[in-house]
Amino acid sequence: MIVFTVVSTKGGVGKTTIAANISALLADLGFRVLMIDADVQPSLTRYFPITHRAPHGITEVVKRGVISHDCISNVGFPISESGRLNPNGCLDLVVSDAPEGALQDWLAQRMDRAVRMKKALRSPFVAENYDVVLIDTQGAVGHLQDTAVLAADLLISPVSPDIISAREFTTGTLDLLKKLETAEEIGMSVPPMQVVIYKLEKTRDSRSIADTIRKEHVTFRGRVNVLRTVIPHAVAYKNAATAQLPVHWINPDRAGLTMHDLVWELIPSLQNVVAEACQPYAQDIADPLEGESAAEVES
Ligand SMILES: Nc1ncnc2c1ncn2[C@@H]1O[C@H](COP(=O)(O)OP(=O)(O)OP(=O)(O)O)[C@@H](O)[C@H]1O
Ligand SMILES: [Mg+2]
Repeated sequence: MIVFTVVSTKGGVGKTTIAANISALLADLGFRVLMIDADVQPSLTRYFPITHRAPHGITEVVKRGVISHDCISNVGFPISESGRLNPNGCLDLVVSDAPEGALQDWLAQRMDRAVRMKKALRSPFVAENYDVVLIDTQGAVGHLQDTAVLAADLLISPVSPDIISAREFTTGTLDLLKKLETAEEIGMSVPPMQVVIYKLEKTRDSRSIADTIRKEHVTFRGRVNVLRTVIPHAVAYKNAATAQLPVHWINPDRAGLTMHDLVWELIPSLQNVVAEACQPYAQDIADPLEGESAAEVES
């Protein structure tokens, strides 16, 4: 099982969109995927249609330190021309049900707050039922974000393609890393961070941002890597959110291919595995490690 946490020190950068669409694509590739909405504003909870809403959500998961059946809601898509989910995969969700501040206050009282989410993910129920866990977080720092970050094997961090955001990213991320590294003193490891340049409008800009971030490699103590795949600013992502469908169904030839590039770069063993909806266009998918990625020529 692998755990990804989508994190950013800035709000509105595309965390929920990326978390939802990576999850849906992985489910469509036949994986059993659990999404966890660890944002007090329940955007991921509302992203896709819920066919079964469990009596509990993130509050009980964090408070109990266990994930069990009564915290698992199910996502289901209406049968449509856009696509149908791979029958081998599944897409489940731990909903956000924490009133603003309540869970943060509860965590603030706990000495074990940093490990609460990691502990919950160690539940046998999770190991038996899921291959991948994706956690969405809020844009603001807090105990809930900390515990979600420390539960991850890999962090995914979208950054906007302008130089000011890139500099803010550097400062914010350094602060985050500095804080997280204190967890190493209690035996926890800080997961490596994969940066995705997100909502790109012009390719040349993305290169200078990627360079700016890469130059910080030493400052970041080698913990941060910039992915080759770039997600363009494209109306398909908004249309998919409105339709409550995965973007690789709404726009299989462009956004669909970009999402494959991203997932292949995050999980290299998936290289050349293609969801049914995108198979007619699969020959257009570039190897993100060779030459230009499909995303870069998409703008
Ligand atoms: N690639 C894209 N191109 C254009 N618009 C996008 C793209 N991805 C996301 N958006 C839009 O950008 C807005 C913010 O995205 P999203 O909600 O995913 O960000 P967020 O980081 O989760 O925000 P928050 O910090 O509030 O949780 C949404 O309106 C979304 O539809
Ligand atoms: Mg969000």
